[in-house]
Amino acid sequence: MRAITVRDRDAGVGGLNLTDMPYPHAAENDVIVRVHAAGFTPGELDWPGTWSDRAGRDRTPSIPGHELSGAVVELGYGTTGLTVGQRVFGLTDWARNGSLAEYTAVEARNLAPLAADIDHTVAAALPISGLTAWQGLFDHAHLTTGQTVLIHGAAGGVGSIAVQLAREVGARVIGTGRADDRDVALGLGAQTFLDLAADDLQHVGEVDVVFDVIGGDILERSTELVRPGGTLVTVAMPPAVQPKGGRAIFFVVEPDRARLTDLAQRLRAGRLNPIVGAVRPLPETASAFARHRRTPGKTIIQVADEQGARHS
Ligand SMILES: NC(=O)c1ccc[n+]([C@@H]2O[C@H](COP(=O)([O-])OP(=O)(O)OC[C@H]3O[C@@H](n4cnc5c(N)ncnc54)[C@H](OP(=O)(O)O)[C@@H]3O)[C@@H](O)[C@H]2O)c1
Repeated sequence: MRAITVRDRDAGVGGLNLTDMPYPHAAENDVIVRVHAAGFTPGELDWPGTWSDRAGRDRTPSIPGHELSGAVVELGYGTTGLTVGQRVFGLTDWARNGSLAEYTAVEARNLAPLAADIDHTVAAALPISGLTAWQGLFDHAHLTTGQTVLIHGAAGGVGSIAVQLAREVGARVIGTGRADDRDVALGLGAQTFLDLAADDLQHVGEVDVVFDVIGGDILERSTELVRPGGTLVTVAMPPAVQPKGGRAIFFVVEPDRARLTDLAQRLRAGRLNPIVGAVRPLPETASAFARHRRTPGKTIIQVADEQGARHS
């Protein structure tokens, strides 16, 4: 089968190559999914699981991509809850071959059923961004109605979903990003937008929650904006400093079938709109992610069309 693989840790996205790889084996509780559309997260080539298995052994050539939408074609021994032919979407494991391939083996519990009227390219934009945004805002920061949240990278994959979820719960949303992201962030529901290169972050005043996806200096400068009792959540890096009277948390997104199902229902009801900035075929994966300036939201790789025919 065709897949995108990486072998060289120092090569960056230029090291993403189209390769012929063996059809995957379905382990216990796995399904094999025929991938229709796949998502890729900037930064995942730095994650340890891209290069080693859970025992720390080199697992190159490895297939990146941890979001998918597709159809179940095979069940592993003991797998329950999904059936052959079913449309599904969800996360692939961090330390196993991923979704930038025609087929992939995934633990069934990482996937949720997908309604027939949701396009695979839209569904593939939801698992990591949607679960990360939900878990950050509500499981970790406990954002509620009437609170103020500062969301960095508001036009990006995670940030664009976080803005919509935060508005729906009745929070006041301040989005940040690059100057070009202003209209997208405001269009998603942010009440205020800050261009991080030009506007002064300190003018935001105190907020109940900071949601950070950028890290570094932006993360550090955001710490003092958290009001006592408030929370800073970041998915970029463990925070070095804690807010005065508040807390700062780094977390890694976890699979959650029930939440994925809820996110898909919001999407069908028109309450959630993942931004698919670009859709590119599998052989163009490297160029899709090597571009200097990315499009808003997620770039999705279309592997097969709705009928399962190869898309190239
Ligand atoms: N820990 C976890 O579980 C977890 C889960 C999901 C994602 N992540 C990480 O979170 C990060 C964001 O993921 P994503 O999918 O949302 O990425 P993304 O789609 O690239 O979104 C990030 C957004 O922030 C903007 N941005 C980045 N640096 C900026 C800066 N210095 N000034 C202004 N804007 C800036 C980006 O603009 P440009 O596109 O113009 O750079 C983009 O709009 C990645 O590093 C990813 O690895 C971690």
